[in-house]
Amino acid sequence: MRIGQGWDTHRLAAGRALILGGITVPSEFGLDGHSDADILSHAITDALLGALALGDIGMHFPDTDPQWKGGDSKQFLSFAVWMVRDKGYEVVNVDTTVILERPKLKDFRVQIREALAETMGIHFNCVSVKFKTAERVGPVGEGKSAEAQAVVLLRPK
Ligand code: C5P
Ligand code: MG
Repeated sequence: MRIGQGWDTHRLAAGRALILGGITVPSEFGLDGHSDADILSHAITDALLGALALGDIGMHFPDTDPQWKGGDSKQFLSFAVWMVRDKGYEVVNVDTTVILERPKLKDFRVQIREALAETMGIHFNCVSVKFKTAERVGPVGEGKSAEAQAVVLLRPK
C-alpha cells in the first residue's frame, strides 16, 4: 500500500467563485488563482501524486501555462487518478480538511463528497471532507486565505 499527503492554500478575493471539490459554494468572496483555485481538488491531486512519488501538481500543470488559466481543477484530479491507475494502483480512501473562517460549509459536505467521488471514480463512503475555522488566528483566521489538506491511501489493483 502507499500513502500520500497534500496541502494547498489560496488567497481570498472578492468577485471570485468559491469552488471546493468542483462545487461552487455561495459566498461573498472566492479563491484567487491561475486556475479555478479549487484548493480541495489541488490538495487531493498532490496527495495522489505524492503517494506514488510522481512529483506535484505544478510539475504536471504549470501555472505559467495559459492552457490551465481559469482551468477546471477536476481535470487535474481526474488526471492524477488516471496516473495512479496507470501505475497499477487504486484509491482506497481519501480524507480531507478545508480550513476557512466563513462561510459555513457543512451544509455542502454531501454535495462536495458526491462530486469528488464521481471525479475520482470511487465510492461516496471512501471520501471524507471535514471543515475547520482557524479560530480567527493567522491569515486564514483573519479571512485572508483558505487552506486544504488531504491524505490518500492506495492499494495495488
Ligand atoms: O473550527 P471549529 O472547530 O470551530 O469548527 C466547528 C465545526 O464547524 C466544524 O466541525 C465544521 O463542521 C463546521 N465548519 C463549517 N464551515 C467552516 C468551518 C467549520 O461548517 N468554514
Ligand atoms: Mg492551488
